[in-house]
Amino acid sequence: MELLDHGNKSDLRNPDTAILIQFVKTVTSITEMGEISRAGKAEGKRIALVPTMGFLHEGHLSLIRAARKAGDVLVVSIFVNPAQFGPAEDLDSYPRNLDRDLKLCAGEGTDIVFNPAGGDIYPEGYSTWVEETDLSRGLCGAARPGHFRGVTTVVLKLFNIVGPNIAFFGRKDYQQFKVIEKMVRDLDLPVEIVGLPTVREPDGLAMSSRNSYLSNRERKEALCLRRALLQAREMLAAGETSAAAVRREMEKLIGREPDARIDYLEFRDPETLKPRETLRPGDLAAGAVFINRIRLIDNLLL
Ligand code: PAJ
Repeated sequence: MELLDHGNKSDLRNPDTAILIQFVKTVTSITEMGEISRAGKAEGKRIALVPTMGFLHEGHLSLIRAARKAGDVLVVSIFVNPAQFGPAEDLDSYPRNLDRDLKLCAGEGTDIVFNPAGGDIYPEGYSTWVEETDLSRGLCGAARPGHFRGVTTVVLKLFNIVGPNIAFFGRKDYQQFKVIEKMVRDLDLPVEIVGLPTVREPDGLAMSSRNSYLSNRERKEALCLRRALLQAREMLAAGETSAAAVRREMEKLIGREPDARIDYLEFRDPETLKPRETLRPGDLAAGAVFINRIRLIDNLLL
């Protein structure tokens, strides 16, 4: 089980040697992934994991770059996790492009792409679930019943298979990050969780694999959530502390877009995620908006 020599990694960025890109090691077997990880640890190596569902963009790459610096063995998992999609959601149409993802991972010096099959993660008769029962209840948890149970279950399984010392998550999915932090604390998992800032398009739209579904017109309308969140921050800065008053203005702003429909807009304590009626600086403002059938989320700390 040879890992790539980091000394050669910079060659992978050179288009003249692009053929080398194919040498990023892809592991599909759970057993093999475990063996590689244990062998690395036996040599005293630190393992860094970035869990993803693929169709990678700069948001994912920011996590991969940080993980590259933090660990000796960098594992990126790519698994579109059926357990976190509701029956009416976009599991089947979720964007996928493994070849492109492998190239991007290689370009960032990834040692291993772990890409298990759905039937190996959830074999016939699978019946064990992990559920965080507090932070996961509101926001996306209320809007997508069962979603976080699917997330915590797969992330715990990935932690068990890969055995990372450190794992990286984006704050774009702020609630997911907090729920995973809590699971790690509650279950005494020996892994350090790092949450990194949201990477945005130049106009401010949070990067998301789902942005690829947007038509040009929808892409323009999609910015309304970001604008509404920034407006909330401005209103608080100007002295408006009523969550209801701020939400009304945000609703007006989003309501101007013909294809936008609010799923939720909420203000929460950034640690406990308890609802706030009176806003304070540092509170979490989080929203989910449908642009036609495409559901986008974003958040900011006021
Ligand atoms: P996915 O949506 O592919 O995101 C993988 C990781 O990238 C998550 O930690 C997410 O928060 C982070 N990310 C996505 N967009 C980002 C952006 N614009 N800026 C910074 N980070 C961003 O989140 C999942 O997959 C899944 O739920 C997973 C954790 C892999 C479990 O299946």
